[in-house]
Amino acid sequence: VSSARAHVGPESRYDTVSANQFNVLTFLGLRERHYLVDIGCGSLRAGRLLIPYLLPGHYYGIEPEKWVVEAGIKSEIGDDMVRLRTPTFSNDDNFTVSEFGRKFDFLLAHGIFIHTSKKQLRRCLDEAEGAMHDDSVFAATFLEGVEDYAGDAWAKDRMITYTYATVAGEAEEHGLRCQKLAWWHPSGQTWTVMTTKNSRLELPRPDDFQAVRLMMQERDEYKRRLENLRKGWLARMLEKI
Ligand SMILES: C[S@@+](CC[C@H](N)C(=O)[O-])C[C@H]1O[C@@H](n2cnc3c(N)ncnc32)[C@H](O)[C@@H]1O
Repeated sequence: VSSARAHVGPESRYDTVSANQFNVLTFLGLRERHYLVDIGCGSLRAGRLLIPYLLPGHYYGIEPEKWVVEAGIKSEIGDDMVRLRTPTFSNDDNFTVSEFGRKFDFLLAHGIFIHTSKKQLRRCLDEAEGAMHDDSVFAATFLEGVEDYAGDAWAKDRMITYTYATVAGEAEEHGLRCQKLAWWHPSGQTWTVMTTKNSRLELPRPDDFQAVRLMMQERDEYKRRLENLRKGWLARMLEKI
């Protein structure tokens, strides 16, 4: 159990990093009706919150290490949750999001660009872009540094850096607009949000509390619906009397 947790980072921060991903996604507008792909989903650090939250069949995960996903299922969510929420997994090791044959509303690559070579980063962006519709949101982290990782393979068991200019420039090359999100991360990674050039989304920003306003709008809508329901119920009762 713990080795599957340790596979994705320090075990002491496992829960905080779960929460960090879930919070940022719901802050960005993730709702249960959305379809999400978790690129490099590991032992379901995010999946343990996302799979129960999303509607059945809406969570997809890619992870080359099959045993890590299996251990994650066993220790984090259990077989009943898999039966109930029917997540889809692939063990592809080349970021082949297209194999799922669908577009995604949300794409997540947490803790991935802290290991990828430039070639892998490009491949991932290429595949992500192909699976996005105009209003999709691609949330990804990287470790911001003053130098770009120059290796040509996945950096195993260590974190590598890219400059923000490189990440934003690569996104741009793939037709995506990259924005840095002022969102805390437990181990100092930087959150970015990539959207298509045609995106009509206005991303919430932590400093203008737009997300809070959206939630309040949702609350008001539910209040209105509840009021209508009550009125309907009251009207029926009065009719009976
Ligand atoms: C730092 S962990 C992050 C895992 C997960 N996103 C999370 O936040 O818990 C990196 C993960 O990427 C996986 N990985 C390695 N090579 C990969 C590849 N080519 N494509 C996708 N994931 C890969 C690793 O096995 C590992 O589970």
